[in-house]
This record gives sequence, C-alpha cells and structure tokens, in this order.
Amino acid sequence: MENFEIKFKHEGAIDTLVIAVSKDLVFDAPHLPKSIAPLINHVLEDRKNVFNGNAGESFLIVLEPSAELSRVLLIGTCFKEDVQDIEKFTTLGGHVGQALKKNKITMATIGWHSFKAACAIDDSDSLNYAAHFAQGCTMANYCFNKYLTSKRAGNFDIAGISFVDTDDMPKETHKSIVHINGSIGLTRDVINEPPNVLNPASFAKIAEELSDYGVKVKVIKGAELAKLNMGCLAAVGNAGSEPPRLLLLEWKGSKSTKFDYAFIGKGVTFDTGGLCIKPPGHMHEMKSDMGGGGAILGALRALALCKAPCNVIGAIPLAENMISEDAYRPSDILESYSKKTVEVIDTDAEGRLILADALSYVSEKYKPDLMVDLATLTGAVIVALGNKFAALFANDDVVLEKLHGLGGRIGEKLWKMPLSPAYEKGMESHVADIRNISVGYGAGCITAAKFLQEFIPEGQKWAHIDIAGVAYRSQESPLYQTRSATGFGVRLLVGLVLGEDYI
Ligand code: BES
Ligand code: MN
Ligand code: ZN
Repeated sequence: MENFEIKFKHEGAIDTLVIAVSKDLVFDAPHLPKSIAPLINHVLEDRKNVFNGNAGESFLIVLEPSAELSRVLLIGTCFKEDVQDIEKFTTLGGHVGQALKKNKITMATIGWHSFKAACAIDDSDSLNYAAHFAQGCTMANYCFNKYLTSKRAGNFDIAGISFVDTDDMPKETHKSIVHINGSIGLTRDVINEPPNVLNPASFAKIAEELSDYGVKVKVIKGAELAKLNMGCLAAVGNAGSEPPRLLLLEWKGSKSTKFDYAFIGKGVTFDTGGLCIKPPGHMHEMKSDMGGGGAILGALRALALCKAPCNVIGAIPLAENMISEDAYRPSDILESYSKKTVEVIDTDAEGRLILADALSYVSEKYKPDLMVDLATLTGAVIVALGNKFAALFANDDVVLEKLHGLGGRIGEKLWKMPLSPAYEKGMESHVADIRNISVGYGAGCITAAKFLQEFIPEGQKWAHIDIAGVAYRSQESPLYQTRSATGFGVRLLVGLVLGEDYI
C-alpha cells in the first residue's frame, strides 16, 4: 500500500526537475543549471498564451542529450479561486502528479525553493507543506486498475518524487505521511471494489488485517448480533447475500481507559433501495454506499500506523440493502437498539437505520468524548452542495467550528447545516416513535441528520457529515480520477486526531 516513494532530500543526478512558475512568469530555482535558465525564459516568452502560470497548467521541456538534466517540468501556481494554504500545496502536488502521469515520467525531483518562492511561504512551514504536496502527488497517482487486463492511457504509475533545495528538512522522510497516504489508498480501494467482491463478509475480512498494526478488530454477527437487539441493522441487511455485521475497530494509543473519539461510518456495501427500488440510471454508483465506513477503515489504519497517542473506536455497521422474500418492507415497525421504534416508510432510507443502532450502541458502550459519523446518507445533499462540500451537522458549537475550520484548511470542505428542532414535526409517526423519512419534500439531508440525532444520548457530543456528494463523484479535481472514490474523510479524521501538521 505504501508504495509511492517520497524523499525529502534528493541524492545523485536529477532526471526531471519540476519548477514552479508564478503568475508573472517568474521562477526562482537555485538548483537549475545556469546554462538552462535562459532556455526556460525563452520558452516562457514564446509560449505566453499556452502557459500563463495558472494553477493546473504545466509545460514539459525536453532538453538536449548533452544537458545536465533530461527534462524540466514547469508548473503554474496562480490560483483563481480562494484556496487556502495547505490545500494549495496538496493541489499543486496533484497537478504535478497528473503532469508526470500524462508524460509517463516515473520519477521526478521537485525544485522546492521555486514552490516556496512562487507561493510566498515561510521556512517554518516548509516541511509540513512539502508533506501535503507529496500527499497530493500520491493521490493523483492513484488509479483503480486491478480489473483491467490491458494497459490503457492514464494507467501509468509514478514511482515517487524527491525534493531538492531542502536544507530545512530532516534526512529521513517522516513515516506518518506515507502511512496516511497508504491508508487513503485503502479507503479508495474498498470503495472502488464492485459489490460482487465487497460485501459485509469481505469488508470485515479486509478490516481484520488491521490487527497487524495493533488495532483490536471485532466482528459481531449472527447470534451474537441478534442478542444485541439491533432491529434496524438486522432488518436492512436481511435480504443481503451476506448477513449484516457490526464491525468494531479499537485503537488504544493512550494509557487512559476513556475513549477520546468514536468514528462511525455507514457501511452499505450495495444499496438497491430495497423494495422501494432505485431507478437504474445511477444505481451502479451505490457500490460506494460504504464510503463512510471505508473512510473509518482508512483513518483507523493511519492512526494505528502513526501510533496516535489517544484512544479511538471505529464502528461500521455493514449491510447490503437488497431484495428477496426476506427483504424488509415499507410499514414494517422496527425496534432499534435504543428501544425506540421506527416505522419504515421508505426502504431506501436505510443508512439512517443502520447508523441509528450503531450510534446509540457506541455511545452507550464506549462513552467517547466526541462521536463523529460519516455517511453517504442522502441524494439531497448533492442537490444542495454538489461535489464541492460535504454537509456538516454538530450538536456542539465548538465541535462544529473545529471541524469546519479544519476541513477548509486541508481541502475536505464542509458546509455548516442546521440541526433545528423545526424539522422534527415531519418525522412523527402514528404507529411508532418515529418514521424513517419525513413527511413532504425538502431539506432531505437535514431531516436525515435529525433522524440520527434521535439516537444520540443526552450529553453525547456528536457530529454528522453527509458525504454522498464527495465520496465518489468528484469529477474535476486534480487529485481524483473520474468515477472513482476520493477517500474523503480520512484526512479530516486524521487531522482531527493528530492535528493538520503531518510532520
Ligand atoms: N445511499 C443513498 C444516498 C446517496 C444518493 C448516496 C446518491 C450517494 C449518491 C441513500 O441510502 C438513499 O437512498 N437516500 C434516499 C433517501 C430518501 C428515500 C428519503 C435519497 O436520498 O433519495
Ligand atoms: Mn438508500
Ligand atoms: Zn444508501
């Protein structure tokens, strides 16, 4: 998994040197041989309308065989939109990754001074930004190609990058960044796996491998799960090719007995909609309906490998929302783990059901300081925010601001949404304590969040992030291929626990 090499101190000859160019078409690259600089100035002058120094633009110059370098790759650094510091470097790393892939360059050396100069950053931030830059490059290199039997364009792997002009960096590359990158890769892999391969059983099996890193993995299923009386999880998974499971991933990095964080992720390995079946147009995308669970898996892997000094419980309710004579029905009344009864109106609102059981169980059993759930919960969040922001809800203002600020800085953007009691009325049921969808239309991602809140015990700090728009369908980002998992949430959760400075 950790196969993308990052070296903060390049040694030996340089094959391809990457140079950042500012919006005035200026570059400051001490490592560039004096004899080559005039050629680059000439190219910048000559190609003025092709390469303007804008972020996203790149230009490859192939040098004569006798030159000290083989190639120079120019990268634009001028962002038009408001992009904050860390995200700027992750994105620039992504641009470099894309350009290297396109030009089939296996290894490149980053002229780091040119990036610091073009983006006006301080030496004190240099190492951290370099780590995020390398993360962007690693993410851009990701390609889910294990089922392709022939090589295709875009199917080229970069082996790694190294940096020069890095007097301010340590000799050894810090391992944490490589572990986090590898963990994002795991998250993306499990989301991209098709549902005939990834089901509740195989997901649990992949998770069991985390025990190699010191994570205690517990898979609750069958009679043991039945004993817990999780009527909602049981109902949703009842028609699945594999029965439902509750996956618990326990990382204890501190001596204390209390849990600092609980991370819960929706793990619907495929969502047909159940008897309230989805139209066929986009149903294939529902292989990504375990995107929240995938992010929890990646985050726990990263935290364990980085030996995070705190206690974290990850919980993933796993189910396949399918159709058979065992499928649950609209009008069924389910008894949740919390004992609250739920009237099923729509079998396609299944995520909130399995999360309801997991949230109340985890809160009661582990009493974490903070509980955060990630879920591809509603199509409505896509209507509201598209693929640029995930929706953030929290029952505590400090938590709300903390996650909001963090997401903005690292480039996993969150939009603050209301958990107002005004949305409660629509969920009243005549026959049970609550219905699983609200009466009437509108505010679908808010009413789903309000449903979850019904299962959060008094006094429990909690945040909910609806990632339906960002987990899978990011089309234009330099970090993601189209129609592929983004790994959204791993950087956010790791950043929450370890801080956003990776180094
Ligand atoms: N998994 C879907 C939400 C989703 C939609 C995720 C599109 C990713 C892309 C969820 O289970 C669902 O079906 N939600 C319904 C809720 C409705 C029945 C109240 C929806 O959004 O249509
Ligand atoms: Mn659904
Ligand atoms: Zn779903």
